[in-house]
Amino acid sequence: MTLLSKIAISGKGGVGKTTLSALLAHIFAERGRSVIAIDADPAGGLAEALGVPRDLAAQITPIAEMDELIYERTGAKRGTYGGFFSLSPRVDDIPDRFSISHRGIKFLQLGTIEAGGSGCICPESALLKALVTHLLLYRDDMMVLDMEAGVEHLGRATAQAVDAFLVVLEPGRRSLTTAGKVRQLAGDLGIDRVLAVGNKVRGESDWAFLQANSPVPILGYLSANPELTEADMRGEGVFDTAPRAVEEARAIADRLEAL
Ligand SMILES: Nc1ncnc2c1ncn2[C@@H]1O[C@H](COP(=O)(O)OP(=O)(O)O)[C@@H](O)[C@H]1O
Ligand SMILES: [Mg+2]
Repeated sequence: MTLLSKIAISGKGGVGKTTLSALLAHIFAERGRSVIAIDADPAGGLAEALGVPRDLAAQITPIAEMDELIYERTGAKRGTYGGFFSLSPRVDDIPDRFSISHRGIKFLQLGTIEAGGSGCICPESALLKALVTHLLLYRDDMMVLDMEAGVEHLGRATAQAVDAFLVVLEPGRRSLTTAGKVRQLAGDLGIDRVLAVGNKVRGESDWAFLQANSPVPILGYLSANPELTEADMRGEGVFDTAPRAVEEARAIADRLEAL
């Protein structure tokens, strides 16, 4: 049996992707896995949710903003558009050189690519794509990828290396619609292991609603929990601040490991 090792988390904005990513990263690290947590959402926030102390957080530069590195690796020319650059830049040293380490979790922030549009081919996106591909295909670490709703910026081979695609749902139609789209896009990329996790569940009827309406099998849920809201308000990590959420996330991690 191969160990589950690459998890990508998506869902509608504000649904709880970052919260779940941080909880799972801590739980797998606690279980002795070598975990790398990747903040791939331009909205960011994973470092805070992981409880990275401010002085350490100040050392984080998103990879997309590392201009020197991007020019050096892709061979792109500064201040020019178009032109030639490498679509397969060297990236194998990046995870260890540019990640920070916090409580047994390596953390990388990918950052935002400004040119926009999913079809953008620019040096930044070439580097990020090569990096994510490298992490998925050639690293043994357990990877927790906190990403946006879309999966279209993962290439086919890359996407297929994801062991579990989790879509976070909240009791409401909009997150279900997003989940349906994620399943569709994932299906187009040949990924069938798309699973859901409920969040902000206020009780039995919310849980029943999600179970009845989720477009994909649902693994478990996190309750609506004021400790999580407060952790975010105080800028504290979720793992130390919300013990009940940790227990619920452990049950989700168990189910993931049992897949
Ligand atoms: N189960 C929950 N109960 C209460 N608040 C939650 C819960 N999960 C997440 N939140 C809060 O909702 C907001 C959005 O969560 P976040 O994880 O940042 O979502 P996303 O990454 O999907 O945008 C944050 O303020 C977070 O603290
Ligand atoms: Mg987020």
